[in-house]
Amino acid sequence: MTELKVLIRREQISQRVAEMGAQITHELAGEPIILLGVLKGAAIFLSDLARQIQLDATFDFIGVSSYGARPDPEEELRSGWDSTGEVRVTKDVDQSLKDKNVVLVEDILDTGLTLTFLKKHLMAHQPKSFRIAALLDKPSRRKLPMQADYVGFSIPDEFVIGYGLDFAEMYRNLPDICVLPRE
Ligand code: IMP
Repeated sequence: MTELKVLIRREQISQRVAEMGAQITHELAGEPIILLGVLKGAAIFLSDLARQIQLDATFDFIGVSSYGARPDPEEELRSGWDSTGEVRVTKDVDQSLKDKNVVLVEDILDTGLTLTFLKKHLMAHQPKSFRIAALLDKPSRRKLPMQADYVGFSIPDEFVIGYGLDFAEMYRNLPDICVLPRE
């Protein structure tokens, strides 16, 4: 594989994740929280973020996938990423979120489809509070009006990999966030 262009270095990520953790700690001071990770992309972000939060915290995970809209990975890259179509839950939360402080942890906010669906799905539990922490945000790609309460980095319309983000399930273990070259 040709050398990947690094978009966000690991040192920048860890510094920003520490800031986000401090902000969450401050805003939810004294409250227990549930860190709810969106599988699989948010796994690494959640594990780093959790250790920067000084609150009583438990973990849960939810899995989603998009119906039909996604072409195979090569086509996806050729035509540009486009997660239109419906979202469905592949693994639901393990517990009721009623009266809980939920921080939904997502790797990247792109069109907004996934988080719009998830917010509606999770608000039905009637949590005490609901916040979204997204490591990355591609605002230029938005199709639905969705904002995260905590955003690590706003990035241009590039397909990124690493630090949990994949292309065809690969590259999640890259320590930096890199741009997948368009060939
Ligand atoms: P949305 O529903 O369009 O906001 O897409 C959110 C999901 O699309 C994320 O959770 C990722 O799984 C995936 N995604 C969007 N952009 C990228 C990217 O640049 N790299 C890897 N995955 C991405």
